[in-house]
Amino acid sequence: MTATAVLTLNLNILFWSSHPSPSFGANNYIPFHEPSFIIMTIQEHIPLAAYTTFNIGGPARFFCIAASEADILEAVTFAREKDLPMFILGGGSNLLIGDEGFGGLVIKMELMGIEEKIEEGNNGKRMLSVGAGEQWDSFVDYAVERGLYGIENLSAIPGTVGAAPVQNIGAYGAEASQVITSVRAFDTRTRQFVDLAGPECHFSYRESVFKKEKGRYIITRVYFSLDPNGTPNTTYKDIVDYFSQKKITQPTLKDVREAVIAIRWGKLPDWKLWGTAGSFFKNPVVTAEAFDSLKKRYPELPGFPEPDGRVKVSLGWILDKVCNAKGLCKGNACVYEKQALVLVTKPGATSEEVVALAHELMASVKEKTGITIEGEVEWVN
Ligand code: EPU
Repeated sequence: MTATAVLTLNLNILFWSSHPSPSFGANNYIPFHEPSFIIMTIQEHIPLAAYTTFNIGGPARFFCIAASEADILEAVTFAREKDLPMFILGGGSNLLIGDEGFGGLVIKMELMGIEEKIEEGNNGKRMLSVGAGEQWDSFVDYAVERGLYGIENLSAIPGTVGAAPVQNIGAYGAEASQVITSVRAFDTRTRQFVDLAGPECHFSYRESVFKKEKGRYIITRVYFSLDPNGTPNTTYKDIVDYFSQKKITQPTLKDVREAVIAIRWGKLPDWKLWGTAGSFFKNPVVTAEAFDSLKKRYPELPGFPEPDGRVKVSLGWILDKVCNAKGLCKGNACVYEKQALVLVTKPGATSEEVVALAHELMASVKEKTGITIEGEVEWVN
């Protein structure tokens, strides 16, 4: 069943849709391929499970695909007129949708395009402007193929570019925030497109302003600064082990991408065989005193100092070695056998089963270590 959104264009919409093509990197940049007045289709009662890597979730009351900033404005106007909550869907790889679905408007982000230019006076560094709907790993591949350093350690992470700043994706010693220079987004509070510079994004471990002020911003493009003269970042233990096993002493950019892909495939479930959203919880960050006291009980517990003096603790280790959670199941939702921070689902799993398993793990960690853990995956219902 479909319904076509009634367009009530206000002056703001007209301004943005008729804006001339941009000068790249300028604050008011609008992608040159922006289509203007194409009436967007808004569908109803669309099942969402297939849009998530967990393969779980009921239907969206309303659903549309946004391929331009004009589409975003149209969708926002539709939601406002009907007083609906909105949810922005990227690759669905960090998402658990409730069995009842979502009673508002789901906007599937499909703004595309990668544009590249040399940064003036910055040692040949490249500025890349990337549409929020681009697949993250295709972008990493693009960068590595062009010899650009900065995101190779983030290879093979599922999801879209627009989701990368939201939770400041990180892996193998790198975080997206290290190379994101700014983020373009629609601010639903002021009803304007804004360009937030890196510091305005308030990035920290798996955190950003986009997560803290949930629902406020709709990200349309992300700007990255990548370095053709960079050096490989190979300090993470798994990467060190990989290259020493392969006897590679001077890894190239492509070697690093290959290493990360191989390591991820070895540890994380095959998305085609299992429903999963990767790490289900965040690694907790505790005070130095709390870490010392945990270390007395669990001398092997891995911990990584944070810039503020606290310590990030490996929850996978706690779930595995302290809670003995590997392989634990609630119905069709299980703790992955090879990595206890990861939950996986079998066909037929429900959101309720995943939530029940998550609550059991949270209670077990609390009881055994006193730590309150938080989800890394976004729960939507
Ligand atoms: N460990 C265990 N048993 C387990 C899991 C982990 O003993 O079942 C130990 C490992 O041996 C290691 C430590 O815990 O000493 C950390 O494990 P790992 O290197 O696998 O990293 P992680 O902290 O569990 C984080 C990210 C991953 C990312 C890896 C690699 C979070 C929430 N997760 O996992 O990101 O790939 O580091 O950098 O920070 C994701 O976000 O979905 C994700 C997969």
